[in-house]
Amino acid sequence: MANIDRGKLSAMEPSGDELVFFVNGRKILERNAEPEMTLLTYLRRKLGLTGTKLGCAEGGCGACTVMVSKFHRHQNRTVHHSVNACLAPLCSLHHCAVTTVEGIGSVASKLHPVQERIAKAHGSQCGFCTPGIVMSMYSLLRNNPQPKMQDVEEAFQGNLCRCTGYRPILEGYKTFTKEGGCCGGRGKANGCCMTNGNATNGNSTNGHKEDHINGNSTISIQPLYDPSEFMPLDPTQEVIFPPELMNICKQSPKELRFKGERVMWIQPSSLTELLELKARYPDAKLVVGNTEVGIEMKFKNLLYPVILAPAYIPELNDIQHTEDGIVFGASCTLTLLGDVLRTAVAKLPSHQTEVFKAVLEQLRWFAGLQIRNVAAIGGNIMTASPISDLNPVFMAASCKLTLLSKGGTRVVEMDGSFFPGYRKTVLKPEEILLSIEIPYTKKGQYFSAFKQSPRREDDISIVTCGMNVVFQESSNIVEDLQLSYGGMAPTTVLAKATSKKLIGRPWNEGLLEDACVSLAEEMALAPSVPGGMVTYRRTLTISLFFKFYLTVQHQLARDGVLLEDVRPDYSSATEIFHAETPSSVQVYQTVPPGQSADDVIGRPVMHLSALKQATGEAIYCDDIPCFENELHLALVTSTKAHAHITSIDTAEALAIPGVVTFVSYKDIRGSNMTGPVLYDETVLAEDTVTCVGHIVGAVVADTQAHAQRAAKAVRISYEEMKSVVTIQDAIESQSFFQPVRTIKKGDVAQGFKESDHVLQGEIHIGGQEHFYLETNCTLAIPRGEDGEMELFVSTQSATKTQALVAKALGVPANRIVCRVKRMGGGFGGKESRSTLLSTVVALAAQKVKRPVRCMLDRDEDMLVTGGRHPFFGRYKVGYMNSGKVKAVEVTFYSNAGNSMDLSLSIMERALFHMENSYNIPHMCGTGYLCKTNLPSNTAFRGFGGPQGMMVAESWMSDVALACGMPSEEVRRLNLYKEGDLTPFNQCLEQFTIDRCWKECLEISNYHQRKADVEKFNKQHRWTKRGLCIVPTKFGISFTAVFLNQAGALAHIYTDGSVLLTHGGTEMGQGLHTKMVQVASRTLGIPSSKIHITETSTNTVPNTSPTAASASSDLNGMAVHNACQTLMQRLGPYKAKNPTGTWEDWVRAAYFDRVNLSANGFYKTPDLGYDFDSNSGRPFNYFSYGVACSEVEVDCLTGSHKNVHTSIVMDVGKSLNPALDIGQVEGGFMQGVGLFTLEELRYSPQGYLFTRGPGMYKIPAFGDIPTELSVALLRDAPNERAIFSSKAVGEPPLFLAASVFYAIKEAIAAARTESGLSGPFRLDSPATPDRIRNACEDRFTKLCPPAKPGTFTPWAVQV
Ligand SMILES: Cc1cc2nc3c(=O)[nH]c(=O)nc-3n(C[C@H](O)[C@H](O)[C@H](O)COP(=O)(O)OP(=O)(O)OC[C@H]3O[C@@H](n4cnc5c(N)ncnc54)[C@H](O)[C@@H]3O)c2cc1C
Ligand code: FES
Ligand code: FES
Repeated sequence: MANIDRGKLSAMEPSGDELVFFVNGRKILERNAEPEMTLLTYLRRKLGLTGTKLGCAEGGCGACTVMVSKFHRHQNRTVHHSVNACLAPLCSLHHCAVTTVEGIGSVASKLHPVQERIAKAHGSQCGFCTPGIVMSMYSLLRNNPQPKMQDVEEAFQGNLCRCTGYRPILEGYKTFTKEGGCCGGRGKANGCCMTNGNATNGNSTNGHKEDHINGNSTISIQPLYDPSEFMPLDPTQEVIFPPELMNICKQSPKELRFKGERVMWIQPSSLTELLELKARYPDAKLVVGNTEVGIEMKFKNLLYPVILAPAYIPELNDIQHTEDGIVFGASCTLTLLGDVLRTAVAKLPSHQTEVFKAVLEQLRWFAGLQIRNVAAIGGNIMTASPISDLNPVFMAASCKLTLLSKGGTRVVEMDGSFFPGYRKTVLKPEEILLSIEIPYTKKGQYFSAFKQSPRREDDISIVTCGMNVVFQESSNIVEDLQLSYGGMAPTTVLAKATSKKLIGRPWNEGLLEDACVSLAEEMALAPSVPGGMVTYRRTLTISLFFKFYLTVQHQLARDGVLLEDVRPDYSSATEIFHAETPSSVQVYQTVPPGQSADDVIGRPVMHLSALKQATGEAIYCDDIPCFENELHLALVTSTKAHAHITSIDTAEALAIPGVVTFVSYKDIRGSNMTGPVLYDETVLAEDTVTCVGHIVGAVVADTQAHAQRAAKAVRISYEEMKSVVTIQDAIESQSFFQPVRTIKKGDVAQGFKESDHVLQGEIHIGGQEHFYLETNCTLAIPRGEDGEMELFVSTQSATKTQALVAKALGVPANRIVCRVKRMGGGFGGKESRSTLLSTVVALAAQKVKRPVRCMLDRDEDMLVTGGRHPFFGRYKVGYMNSGKVKAVEVTFYSNAGNSMDLSLSIMERALFHMENSYNIPHMCGTGYLCKTNLPSNTAFRGFGGPQGMMVAESWMSDVALACGMPSEEVRRLNLYKEGDLTPFNQCLEQFTIDRCWKECLEISNYHQRKADVEKFNKQHRWTKRGLCIVPTKFGISFTAVFLNQAGALAHIYTDGSVLLTHGGTEMGQGLHTKMVQVASRTLGIPSSKIHITETSTNTVPNTSPTAASASSDLNGMAVHNACQTLMQRLGPYKAKNPTGTWEDWVRAAYFDRVNLSANGFYKTPDLGYDFDSNSGRPFNYFSYGVACSEVEVDCLTGSHKNVHTSIVMDVGKSLNPALDIGQVEGGFMQGVGLFTLEELRYSPQGYLFTRGPGMYKIPAFGDIPTELSVALLRDAPNERAIFSSKAVGEPPLFLAASVFYAIKEAIAAARTESGLSGPFRLDSPATPDRIRNACEDRFTKLCPPAKPGTFTPWAVQV
């Protein structure tokens, strides 16, 4: 064996051992465990347990959460942990018990309370995140049957949901907590307290009719669900750890080897064995949690032929308390580290545990719980990441590390030399890290750690640091100072020069002054440094030191060393952020007394699939069982933004085992030109690529892993051409799609003349990734006859899919059937861009004549499919001293990307919303579509409307700032009134904004709140609050008139059951639930008799996409129409037998040979707008809403907290208040993401950096407002839609602008402290770096930005 290559596998290696583990109580023996396979793939593909979902493959979304239970032989105890199955290597599960969502309950057998409560509390919309959330909660309850709300919030740090806005999930699960009041079935002699009606829910409404009193108003509140229906939780009924496994675990371990295609996994049984192996395979990777190595292998394409798994070696899990501190074995997980340190902090004197507290503070914001449960302390150190959150603390604390090899032991200090370079440590190849000692602190020593990231929860750092100061005894003279920063260099670094200057100095303003100047010099960054945000990162190093300075000053005062404590108005800068448990109120109008119990219109009926979603039984596209001869597809995409393809070499790819073929444009029998409106893009690139991510071809192979490996092995040579990436590039090179649209009303020039003042401004609104939890997926099955093909697709546009596939395959549309059961979210992203994938998969299936499947990985989906259009708005506003706006001229530029897609309609909608809800006498808007070398941007909830309105609010905010008037007054002064005409000459009828506005002021307690904010701002220098109220008006209808049609088909079977189909697709919004409600009322039968299986092109043809918020309106009318036809046909039988049942009438009609199948159709009347004459009605009606938000901004870091939001939304007479409130809250939170958090980052060359939840942050549980009130406007029936309802999908999204402009108000308050007043530019999203940079102060002045044009930035604003 001595001559084996370092780390290479040899044919002489013994064959693999047997992997033994349990899944849902069933023993699994796997003789061919593949080291590269994750637990998730094994569950889904080998065991058919598809309840566990794949959302990202990088530990960032929690959709794959399962519970892993282990028996610890040495501690003689079993532990249960939530774990990300997408990162857990299959081989790491030897002797573990895995519990998946299927293992805890099912609709078919018995639900688990965790499943029941999320569903009944309306916490599941599309349901794709639901199994993961269920398993996070389940794991928590296994360890702690009656947790606190704080524990629940911690358990969900690693879970994302894109639909619900999180509030209903937290409310539903609050019932398990101490605060939620559920006794867990123990508290009452006759069962759970919930069934006795004694539960209290804080401010929440659930379960009880309450009077909610706010200001002077009293609002009667109805619950959206009844917790007394909930099954009690009985912890004694949980699945036990398999006794057989317990016995197996008690036996002595032996070395295990699992040999795969490319990798060998070795689990040594002892430390000696591990050191032997490391000596033999010095390049081998040690894998504990795999949270770093897993990412490297999956996303960086790295291969480690030998993996050593030391997780079970006792010495590496040892924890020892020594005289100097606590020594942790390198394999100790971060969860364990936290537990031990928390105990120590509770037990030991405070001055001894300063470092421990700092580590705990870092752990609070370190990843999600699923990651912390498996990730090891050694893994974090040895990854040597420059943004590690623990290394700066360890370095500032001078922790000692024990290194071990076969040759011996050495102890090194973690100092400036431990990391010699990017991702390098001083360890020799044959060495391992045995342990780390975290030291106690002593009296006169103070320690802090700070982490700043875009999102507070589960996010990687922008800058992170550990700061350690030791004072000479009983004095404020610095004896030693260590300032360690992450995020400021390729390694964690010490600010040595600054520390040196400060040693021997007293802790006073002079020291602070010099420290800031010195840090600004020492922590310099090149303007084009990777990660960007240069000014912000540099300012942070100083701002965080300032926080440390104040914190220490406070502690010195507390300890009697300093006489003067921190100024009261500065003290909030020393406070550590503590999340408060959110509370909420939902208000809606109940059904009128006397409405039949069977009539479910207007009732908060649960989403019809919610229970199945919560148990994992709901089937999504990729959950369809594999066909025996099925193949998998992986896309090959361009790495250049604009280039000629000079050659494609597939030789290496085709040689990979299992690969069947490469599909290129040459395989297309029909047409290669595609697109939803214009055929201006290719299915597969021919000789030119026009964006990074342009699909060039696809590899088809026996497994997804082989297909993806081969796709990466396809070599494409390019000849690069000049590319246009940003809107500014496009303006410079006049690269626009045609036409340029304009809407004009009045005489703008005259309006400016008549105005007291004219101001000009600009705002850039960044794009947004849809981040539907279920990525695009298609399964294509060629039927072998006449070119027939059946497609299962996750799409909002079954008809468009059918048409574009038929076009590419060269067959008529009648050979293609497209079927959509449900989507795991769509939000517009699957309206047109889903056809990119479905067409390629269909082509591949046609070529290989076998079923072909592809579900895109998250990074592929984000790269290829485009998102919301970034917009740039430039405006000129004429206004009076009173704040009344007279004239506005606005020019919009959208970044359309490399093809037209839906960009024109999106720009039109931006123009239709350019005045938001304000009556502007003279207004002119022009919209340019920038043609760039980015993936084509597309529909996204709001469809250009939010961007148009956002620009309007920007000029409204500028006018208020310029006039020095409260923004609420200026906005209200300019609001429309009933009967006003919009710039496109549509009369506003049944205008309800004034009512929404008034009610919103009331429920938010606006005026009191405003006074409180002003008082707060006077008392706090470094923390500012902002408050803002914003209206929205959203036009309902497709602006392409022909799309405003819908069809439905209803069959009554002879047993009385009804099968309903309609043209809309279910993506979580509850469309099918509403359609069943409509059919139920029209047919006069309980909804339980009605079923919708799917949407398909062979039942209802020529459907419009499920989009524009209009699907309930359109399909609802079509369903109503079909059901009315059936009712007419049944009429005679009802008349003949008035006391008969539904079944009697159906049977009688059948025997009388009556057609019990009817289709329905609807087209919206009176629509049609002409841009040239600015006449006609573009919209059937408008949905209205108003929101008021309050935020708190940390001026030193730019972080903000959403303190309060009140929303009043006019949804007409709600068809289903639970679903509608779900849309309001979900849409609002998606807007919060758009305007405050989500940032797509592109290189100047058009390469997208943000391709997964690791870098692209959507709102998490912790981002919801601490107080959230949602009221559906009462007594507002809408004559123009089904049963007087209104559309709700898109309109509420824009209300999140209230958060953005509240932030802007807070920044304005901060700027006044620096003597700045008047309008200032704030681009969207209001990320911490933008907020911090806008809060100009003496620290920002030390870090001026480099002059634009003198460097190439890392990322550009596209
Ligand atoms: C979703 C997500 C969120 C994250 N969030 C954060 C965060 O907030 N802050 C942060 O700092 N990091 C974060 N990380 C990074 C990562 O989780 C941590 O670095 C973690 O501690 C790595 O531990 P592990 O056991 O999973 O490492 P592994 O992937 O198993 O190993 C990592 C590296 O350490 C080496 N190694 C492990 N043990 C030893 C040993 N005993 N001796 C020598 N080498 C060893 C391995 O060979 C490998 O090179 C995140 C990762 C993910 C996926
Ligand atoms: S799929 Fe595992 S965390 Fe997203
Ligand atoms: S319900 Fe959570 S992602 Fe859709």
